[in-house]
Amino acid sequence: MHIRVLGSAAGGGFPQWNCNCANCQGLRTGTVKARARTQSSIAVSANGQDWLLVNASPDVLQQVREHPPLQPARAVRDSGIAAVLLMDAQIDHVTGLLMLRERSTPLPLLATPEVLSDIGNALPLTRVLSHYCGVAEHPLPLDGRAIEPPGVPGLQVVAVALDSQPPPYSPFRGRPRPGDNIGLLLKNPQSGAQVFYAPGLGALTPALRALMAGCHTVLVDGTFWTEDEMIRLGLSKKRAAEMGHLPQSGPGGMLSELSRLPASVRKVLIHINNTNPILIEDSPERAELVRHGVEVAHDGMVIHF
Ligand code: MLT
Ligand code: MN
Ligand code: ZN
Repeated sequence: MHIRVLGSAAGGGFPQWNCNCANCQGLRTGTVKARARTQSSIAVSANGQDWLLVNASPDVLQQVREHPPLQPARAVRDSGIAAVLLMDAQIDHVTGLLMLRERSTPLPLLATPEVLSDIGNALPLTRVLSHYCGVAEHPLPLDGRAIEPPGVPGLQVVAVALDSQPPPYSPFRGRPRPGDNIGLLLKNPQSGAQVFYAPGLGALTPALRALMAGCHTVLVDGTFWTEDEMIRLGLSKKRAAEMGHLPQSGPGGMLSELSRLPASVRKVLIHINNTNPILIEDSPERAELVRHGVEVAHDGMVIHF
């Protein structure tokens, strides 16, 4: 099973178009040791030909260009993207759907009913797309059932409801429902190995810890280093928790959560906000991750399981 990290940054990417924080400015001027990153997305395939695109980022066209396996060129119009699955209805995860409109058949789209409702109403992407290729909706169950995404043979996925937040534009912001935000268990039915992917994870539960402990790799929320990162930099009034993200540092933070997992589990942070000091490869915060055996995802990272 192949996972390709197409985009490892949170909303805005790195550097963000209008941001002159130390990280973004440092990357632009070449004065920090860091890599540029596009917005949050991975692609998963068992056979290396047929891919499940997990999240359709605003950077999807650039991501497809940078990942040749996503264009197998079997016909004059073709794509390796067989289906799209959405983790939530956030702008950085859904607006790339509009860029996939040139298909000649409806785009298979897997998402929870809550997400399908947000992107059909408050941000009516699927209604707009109905005037182009259209989408074939596959509502994701939250009952623990494994499903095989259409057109992606040999891969099974299980959607897991997470404690996080729907997007700011959702009528349910501030009063989240199960299904507004999911984690995804990616299963290799041949080997039994599984990977847990959760770019927006606000809190862990005993059930989630047990699930993660049984994984080959966990690819989880690396948005913020501290709870008040954006506030301290004067960039926003929002705390990490309000946005549905568990910061890495501090008691009960993601690092202490990941330390509880068996050493055999590969631990990778993804969906990194451009303000996060872990993006700087020689920062003390990055050194702390290394001491904990935790990696930082980058665009182009490949994981086999
Ligand atoms: C989030 O996950 O909270 C988003 O990256 C925010 C955004 O896209 O503006
Ligand atoms: Mn996001
Ligand atoms: Zn920035």
